[in-house]
Amino acid sequence: MTPKHPSESLTILTDLVLPSETNALNNLFGGELLARMDRAASISAGRHSRRIAVTVSVNHVAFNKSIPLGSVVIIEAKVSRAFKTSMEIYIDVWVEDRESGERIKSNEAIYTFVAVDENGKPVEVPQIDPLTKLEKHRYDDALRRKQLSLLLAGKMKPEDASELKALFV
Ligand SMILES: CC(C)(COP(=O)(O)OP(=O)(O)OC[C@H]1O[C@@H](n2cnc3c(N)ncnc32)[C@H](O)[C@@H]1OP(=O)(O)O)[C@@H](O)C(=O)NCCC(=O)NCCS
Repeated sequence: MTPKHPSESLTILTDLVLPSETNALNNLFGGELLARMDRAASISAGRHSRRIAVTVSVNHVAFNKSIPLGSVVIIEAKVSRAFKTSMEIYIDVWVEDRESGERIKSNEAIYTFVAVDENGKPVEVPQIDPLTKLEKHRYDDALRRKQLSLLLAGKMKPEDASELKALFV
């Protein structure tokens, strides 16, 4: 399979924050943002693999800034690295100022998806060929994040997490 660039899976989801999607402080409810990011990541993983892709893990979510009612929220998702059947999706969340059009970064998240066949069995995906400095940086760090995720899920032994160990020794 020919490797693909992260830009080929770029998915941009732009939507408003409505009253039914807020918490008691009139800011976007965290679970609503998680669902929106999951949708964007799912489309991104599907674009990369051209397969059905299912969420296997939410590796990291940072709610750095609250997002007020009425905001325009832009979610950008791209595959940052592909392994055998799994893909890491890096998600950047921006809030657009209605008057100036300026974008302010509010959140970041990393999800892992697995490409599956019609029976839900994992299938191989194309590799990633990163181009930009940021894409290369995210690609390089993704193996360490995969090992950490597998370790936390009890699916990898600490002694096998070579990339992680290299950070400390
Ligand atoms: C995703 C699923 C198909 C994986 O099946 P599985 O039998 O565990 O398959 P594997 O153990 O071969 O794992 C498949 C890949 O996922 C990776 N993976 C599994 N758990 C992971 C985790 N917690 N973090 C990161 N990667 C993980 C494996 O390393 C493997 O990657 P690779 O092939 O690229 O090396 C299966 O767990 C499933 O159907 N889960 C439910 C998915 C779902 O319904 N999601 C929606 C939310 S409800």
